[in-house]
This record gives sequence, C-alpha cells and structure tokens, in this order.
Amino acid sequence: MRLLLVGFGTVGQGLAELLLEKEKSLLDEYGLKVDVIGISDMLKGSLYNADGIDLAAALEKAKSGDKISDLSDKYDGDALGLIATADADMIVEATYTDIKTAEPATSHIRAALEKGMHVTTTNKGPEALFFHDLAKLAKEKGVQFLYEGTVMSGTPVLNLIRETLAGCDISEVKGILNGTTNYILSEMEAGLTYEDVLKTAQELGYAEAVPDADVLGWDALAKVTIIANTVFGATCKPDDFPCKGITEITSDAIADAKKRGKRFKLIGKVWRDGDQVKGSVAPEEVDLSHPLAGVMGATNAVTVTTDALGDVTIVGPGAGRVETGYSALVDIIHVGGKR
Ligand SMILES: NC(=O)c1ccc[n+]([C@@H]2O[C@H](COP(=O)([O-])OP(=O)(O)OC[C@H]3O[C@@H](n4cnc5c(N)ncnc54)[C@H](OP(=O)(O)O)[C@@H]3O)[C@@H](O)[C@H]2O)c1
Repeated sequence: MRLLLVGFGTVGQGLAELLLEKEKSLLDEYGLKVDVIGISDMLKGSLYNADGIDLAAALEKAKSGDKISDLSDKYDGDALGLIATADADMIVEATYTDIKTAEPATSHIRAALEKGMHVTTTNKGPEALFFHDLAKLAKEKGVQFLYEGTVMSGTPVLNLIRETLAGCDISEVKGILNGTTNYILSEMEAGLTYEDVLKTAQELGYAEAVPDADVLGWDALAKVTIIANTVFGATCKPDDFPCKGITEITSDAIADAKKRGKRFKLIGKVWRDGDQVKGSVAPEEVDLSHPLAGVMGATNAVTVTTDALGDVTIVGPGAGRVETGYSALVDIIHVGGKR
C-alpha cells in the first residue's frame, strides 16, 4: 500500500505514530506493508519519494516544530501537485474542516478519486456537503471512499452500522457527538457556571478560544448531516436541520432536571419519519436510566435503534491524536489488509 498523507497535523501525526508502532503486526496479521510515499502540509512543508519517505524522521521533525521539508525528500508543490505526481494507492485527507465550503479537502479527495486512488478522510466538510457526489465518483472509479473518523473519531460507529449491523433496519441514530459540550454539561452538574467551566475547558485544550462550533452545536450538526447522508441515504445539508447549542442551559436547570431523574445532554439525532429523514441538534433531558445519561466528560456515545436488536449503544472517544489517527488506520486495513 503506497500512501499519501495530506495534512500532517494532529491526526496525520497520530496515524504516522500508529503506522510505525504497528508496522510488524500489520504485516503479520493483515499481510499489509504500508509505505508512506508522500506528505503534504501547509506550514511544515512537503515530502515525496516513490520508494517511501522516512516516516520516523518526518514525525520527529513535525513534533519538534521543524519543517519536514528540511529532509532530503523535500517536495516543492502543493497537495494537488503531489496527488497528480505520486503513484499512490490511497490518500489520507486530514486537513482542517471548513463546513461552509468543504475546501481544500473536497478538491484533494476528488483529485485522488479521479486518479483511481482510495481515500480515507477525517474531515467533516466533504461528507456533510458532497457525500453522494464523492461516493458516486469512487464507485465509477472502482475505489473506496471511507470516512470513519468523521463521526466519533476512531470509535467505530459508521463501520459498526455499515458492516456489523448490516441487515438491520435502522430507524434512529442519536447520541452525544461533541465532547466539549458534554464535558461542560458534566462539570456544570457540580454547580459551576457555564462561563467558569468554559474557561477551564479552554485552559485544558478541550475548547477553542472561539468556542462557537462546539457550544452552538455546529460540530454536532455536521456529524448529524453525515449520519443522515451516509446511514439514511438522505441528500441533506447542515442548514436543513434545526440546531441549538448549550449556551442557554443554567446550572439551576441541570440541578432541577437531576431531581426529576433526568440529565441534560446535547443530543444529535437522525430518524426516519415515514419517507422522510429528519435530524436535529438540541439539549435534551435524558432519563438517568438511558445509557447516554451515564456518559460523562469528553466521551462520546451513540445509540442506534434497530429492528432486529432494539437499541445498540456504543461509547468511546470522539477526538484525539491517536484515537482519530486510528480511524484512518482501520480504513487503510479495510482497503489493503487481507483478513
Ligand atoms: N483532532 C481530532 O481529534 C479530530 C477528530 C475528528 C476529526 N478531526 C478532523 O480531522 C482533520 C484534521 O484534524 P487535526 O486535528 O489534525 O487538525 P490540525 O492539527 O489543524 O491539522 C490540519 C493540518 O492540515 C494542514 N493543511 C491545511 N491546509 C492544507 C493544504 N491545503 N494542504 C496540505 N495541508 C494542509 C495544516 O497545515 P499547517 O498547520 O502546517 O498550516 C495542518 O497541519 C480536521 O478536518 C478535523 O476536523 C479531528
């Protein structure tokens, strides 16, 4: 498997660590030898060597804040140039998410698919806005377009639904799709104010300096849209669904809910209503007996309602360097591993 990494930030580096750490087990267990032949990154620079770059050296440079392009396999073009130049089997698209335009990720993915390369991405923009176009292009080209890491990072919710729950009719998928807001709500239960918890979350690196994408529900909304499009076959955009964040919830409201056997969670959900697919993001009072109510801190969880099994709940990390890098690794094994 000749691989290109497009975007060498948190996720790209997390994947690189896993590829180095698991080199032997990938070969022994899946007959899979992964050669990273190129990396494209904005500020860190780019590398290309048709025989494989020195991934450990690239990782060391990136971690120490140096440019990877100081290494001998320096490549001077941009990501589209690298995709056009390299004879790769697969790319990992892990540039930043832009939920309004889905660029530059969509152009990278389209170029790779056009060239007959498999793609995995952790980037929410392309699936939320252009999933069906990209899936159609992948089908025409006979390659796979995978995106496990876009919802709950490496916690296998999309693969669970697509593969392990194959044959079940799914009527609803609902859950805690944003770790930052779940952390804030969990801490507010101890009586702290929203403002105080947000400040701590920012200090701990759980929340951005401008926290709108999390606290106003937009990040969860992107994931709801991805679930609607990929699991329910809808052709929806984020604007099609109502979205409310957690900014109006007070500690008093949380305490009051608890007295009544309930707990506030920011719930993203998608469900079938006759022929229609509906979705929403909003704070909900979840009964304390429901599995989602016990999910605290930055952890994510999803309950899938099926005909054959009833409710199936999966709980796990929704972010993180290695956790999200793992989502790309499992997609790479899916494409190139022999099981
Ligand atoms: N981190 C997580 O826990 C997590 C979880 C789930 C999904 N995701 C998604 O995964 C993606 C990557 O996340 P991340 O945390 O790794 O972000 P990140 O640390 O900001 O890394 C993104 C990288 O992409 C590079 N980049 C930006 N534009 C580029 C371009 N045109 N060509 C080549 N490289 C480009 C950036 O380069 P410079 O910084 O050098 O400019 C940066 O190194 C995002 O879409 C994110 O939403 C992340």
